[in-house]
Amino acid sequence: MESLLSIDWKNETFPLDLKKIFGEGAVRVEIGFGNGEFLVYLAKKYPDDYVLGIEYSWVSMRKAEKRLKKEGIENVKLVRVSAEVAFDLLIPERSIKEVWLNFPDPWPKKRHTKRRLLNREFQKYLAVSLEDGGEVHLLTDHEGYFEFVKEEVNEGGVFCMEEKEPPSWHPGTKYWRKWEEMGKKIHYLRMVKKAHPEVKRMIKPCEVEPVITRLDLHSMRDVLIREDEVIVKIFKVDGDKLVVYLKEGPLFEKAYLPLEETQEGIKVGIPENVFRGRALKKLMEVLNGKDSIPSTPSR
Ligand SMILES: C[S@@+](CC[C@H](N)C(=O)[O-])C[C@H]1O[C@@H](n2cnc3c(N)ncnc32)[C@H](O)[C@@H]1O
Repeated sequence: MESLLSIDWKNETFPLDLKKIFGEGAVRVEIGFGNGEFLVYLAKKYPDDYVLGIEYSWVSMRKAEKRLKKEGIENVKLVRVSAEVAFDLLIPERSIKEVWLNFPDPWPKKRHTKRRLLNREFQKYLAVSLEDGGEVHLLTDHEGYFEFVKEEVNEGGVFCMEEKEPPSWHPGTKYWRKWEEMGKKIHYLRMVKKAHPEVKRMIKPCEVEPVITRLDLHSMRDVLIREDEVIVKIFKVDGDKLVVYLKEGPLFEKAYLPLEETQEGIKVGIPENVFRGRALKKLMEVLNGKDSIPSTPSR
């Protein structure tokens, strides 16, 4: 269940209408807010502005909500989603004043390098969402990650950067204290937007309606459907639910679609917590027979 503090993004219009959600005023973003202490700090430092917290962990959401409520903070909203999805789908162009990343996951293993968030491609999505001259602030203890980001800034060409001592006013975070206690140096990079690049939106909202199918859903176990950046896997029928995996660009969901017997066939419903996009649309087209099943079972 979403609370008043958090945005129920799957049932919003895209991109989000930040003026409607917040009001007039600058919007500052923190990606990966952890326990939410820096959100509180930003909200108090800029009482006339708004703060949007983006985080994919449920545990962090709960902790931050509790903290914000306890502190009586009213100019912050949280959205539980990955940053990749947020900046592809949710954040409008030129709508953000600054973005903070305090100790993002460094993915130290070489084979995981491609998971690093601040890669040159993602930097383009950040730049498009920032106002002209908008800023990204990175703090990290991880030398390898820091060097990686600087290299990606050079190659990406959409930010200029300045390597400095961390701002003296920064109150620190849980991870800052953890690494400092271990004697690690804290690196700070200030990136300033210098170009407004073109980006390809990978996630595309669609009109999708429930369908009535005559197909034998049990026999479709593990059927895999692929088209462009969309992948659908029909996992199984579980009681009165069809369990499917939906992937569309950076958005990946496991969905439980309700099944209901009708005289015409099985009605496959769409719960509110499932994103109505190309993956779901493709699935529904296959189920109502408008499209053939394009590939064989995956195992
Ligand atoms: C190392 S912790 C740092 C937490 C906090 N900023 C701090 O300094 O104490 C990284 C946080 O980023 C979140 N995170 C990692 N990748 C993310 C992504 N792609 N989108 C949103 N949140 C992400 C994790 O869930 C985690 O809470």
